[in-house]
Amino acid sequence: MQTFHRGRRLRATPYIRSMVRETAPLLREDLIMPYFVVAGEPGLRKEIPSMPGQCQLGLDALTEQVAAAVDMGLASCILFGIPASKDEQASGAWAEDGIVQKAVRRLKRRWPELLIITDVCLCEYMSHGHCGILTSEGRVLNDETLPLLAKTAVSQAQAGADMVAPSDMMDGRVAAIREALDAAGLTGTPILSYAVKYASAFYGPFRDAAQSAPACGDRKSYQMDPGNAREALLEALADLQEGADALIIKPAGPYSDILRTVREHVNVPLCAYQVSGEYAMIRAAGLNGWVDERAVMLESLLGLKRSGADMIITYFTETLLRDGLVR
Ligand code: PBG
Repeated sequence: MQTFHRGRRLRATPYIRSMVRETAPLLREDLIMPYFVVAGEPGLRKEIPSMPGQCQLGLDALTEQVAAAVDMGLASCILFGIPASKDEQASGAWAEDGIVQKAVRRLKRRWPELLIITDVCLCEYMSHGHCGILTSEGRVLNDETLPLLAKTAVSQAQAGADMVAPSDMMDGRVAAIREALDAAGLTGTPILSYAVKYASAFYGPFRDAAQSAPACGDRKSYQMDPGNAREALLEALADLQEGADALIIKPAGPYSDILRTVREHVNVPLCAYQVSGEYAMIRAAGLNGWVDERAVMLESLLGLKRSGADMIITYFTETLLRDGLVR
């Protein structure tokens, strides 16, 4: 009798395959939809050329978009803002009537149960496009930036954000934000920290969408070097020590080894961010008829769950809901 492995026995029928499948199907609660909300004309709906299907949205357009998504079962979203004007203190990020603060108030009033996460960063609001305060020699200052990030997080939480997600990669920002939230009486607001964020070319389309490309230089002095894996653990543990409640790994697909490693070392929830460039590549190949877009989209997300993601930020969220591809 042959003794080789007979893996095909458990692949024979759809029922057997789903019985032995190790990774659970996607749930709507796993998915977080990013939105780009723009100050100014409330009805604005402008497609982002490098992200087909995604738009910059004015306040009214955002409300319409979310209404349709909530009807399809949207559970959670993350908001990015594009202010009317930018300066060197990123004042649009922490203004009480900033675009994100306005959007949060508007959405929470209508959908109190919708889980709203706000991205805490300064690059969209800085005239130079960096994530912190810039010196005249082009250096991004760390400690001087922390109070601005803390102020941003507090103003977003005061507007009603359920969770704040710092994505700036300054050292010590989670502690600064936690302290400021607590001091403002917001002890119940969780921090979903972009703990492991690489300096990645996969953010290209996002920077078109958020108009946040740095005017000079790059983000390599604060975002992580793509060659580093051990350092990811250092970053994850540091953020936990500072008070992060859950962690983001970003980008997702090209860094699923990192997701897996972090998963094996920490016990907090992990979020994978399938970033703009990952979305753009799948869409582009799909639109060209080079791949089966729906199948590739599902496989890419399954891969992230299999690698250890509890939740996923993906621009495909609305598509998945619309097409009934999640439970
Ligand atoms: C802000 C921020 C970026 C992304 C999320 N938050 C851009 C960047 O760091 O340049 C990228 C998300 C995406 O590509 O989808 N700092």
